[in-house]
Amino acid sequence: MNGEVLNIHNYQESVIKSGIKRLTLTDFRNYAYLRLNTGLNPIVITGENGTGKTNILEAVSFLTPGRGLRSARLTDIRRISPALVANDYTPGNTSWAVSSVVCINDDDTEIGTGVESSYRDSSEETRTYDRRIVKINGQKTTSQSDLGKYISAIWLTPQMDRLFRGGSQPRRSFLDRLVYAFDIEHAKRTANFEHLYKEWVQLIKTGKTDNYWLSSIEEEMSAIGVAIAAARREQIARLNTFIKNDPDDVFPNVELSLEGTIEQMLDTRPAIDVEDYYISSLQKQRNNVLYSDSIDGVNRTDFKVFYKKKRMPAELCSTGEQKSLLISIILAQTKCQTIAKGFPPVLLLDEVVAHLDDAKREALLQKIRDLNIQAWITSTDPDLFVSMRPNSQFFEVSNNQIYER
Ligand SMILES: Nc1ncnc2c1ncn2[C@@H]1O[C@H](COP(=O)(O)OP(=O)(O)O)[C@@H](O)[C@H]1O
Ligand SMILES: [Mg+2]
Repeated sequence: MNGEVLNIHNYQESVIKSGIKRLTLTDFRNYAYLRLNTGLNPIVITGENGTGKTNILEAVSFLTPGRGLRSARLTDIRRISPALVANDYTPGNTSWAVSSVVCINDDDTEIGTGVESSYRDSSEETRTYDRRIVKINGQKTTSQSDLGKYISAIWLTPQMDRLFRGGSQPRRSFLDRLVYAFDIEHAKRTANFEHLYKEWVQLIKTGKTDNYWLSSIEEEMSAIGVAIAAARREQIARLNTFIKNDPDDVFPNVELSLEGTIEQMLDTRPAIDVEDYYISSLQKQRNNVLYSDSIDGVNRTDFKVFYKKKRMPAELCSTGEQKSLLISIILAQTKCQTIAKGFPPVLLLDEVVAHLDDAKREALLQKIRDLNIQAWITSTDPDLFVSMRPNSQFFEVSNNQIYER
């Protein structure tokens, strides 16, 4: 970044082709085995409801830190085979795998992830232990955030149609994923914070309140929390500046902001003071853990989106408008990220054209072609993608298999 001007004029020179060249699923959701060879151009996947289109996008999303685009429990992903359920279904084995060859500018990297389940016999019972593993070029890595060096992904799913209306948690994760792409340490920070938070709550609930340990957890939470807040602020500022300089001609102009005590305090006070404030705030809130769940801090920050032309907060906009607002953010992030990082994200657009009118749909598809990126687009209706024919790959899913069309 370093003061570099992020605008569309540097975009065309910055694009480096990147994405997935090969995707292999083993016992993943409805797929016993699936292999897909893909170009770095857009990919259109069609098929009837429930055939496994979203499952493929979910598999791709597991190549980035976190629990994928459905925030799934790792044990729900292992393929449930109808035959096994009927006969002698053994619930023990929960292993599954997604492996891939990803590439940035002709540099290939093998990335694999999944759950390894191992059995241990104790005297009374057999128990299984599940572990998420991540491998990069065959080497196990302990840090999922390393994946960010080889691939990043942004997704839009039908669940996100309600992103602006419900609780703040999904908005926060959406924003945090936008941050990861620029700052791979952010994935580590948010995971660490979550872990410390649980430990903190646990200690207080078990009554160990004058514990030295508790204070040291509060200090650690504050340091990581302030770093999280600072990284979120930076991302919001970056996107707002970018959008101001390069307003989209079709999708609405948005202004992004954060609502959170720690983030807002950073407007006027140095990080070190905010950290001290956070430590004492956590100390004061120890009792809240016992009576309610609302602990103030970066775990409660909200991500706000404002539709500039209409002067309307996103949560008051129509469903179609909210989708367009999200598309705006994602397009800005894609360009911004490509210029700053040197390679574009993979876009996972699940049923994204469903709420768009014809003009908006075609505009979006045109933008995807102009961006020259690997976008994975699902739909039940292949006829909506005629304009994509010349430079995209088309697949159809049926009977737990995929066919190039
Ligand atoms: N662990 C699993 N094992 C086998 N099938 C699964 C598993 N989890 C989900 N499914 C099945 O996957 C199908 C849904 O796939 P999905 O990708 O959401 O469909 P769509 O094509 O509509 O996007 C459903 O039929 C569901 O029962
Ligand atoms: Mg689906």
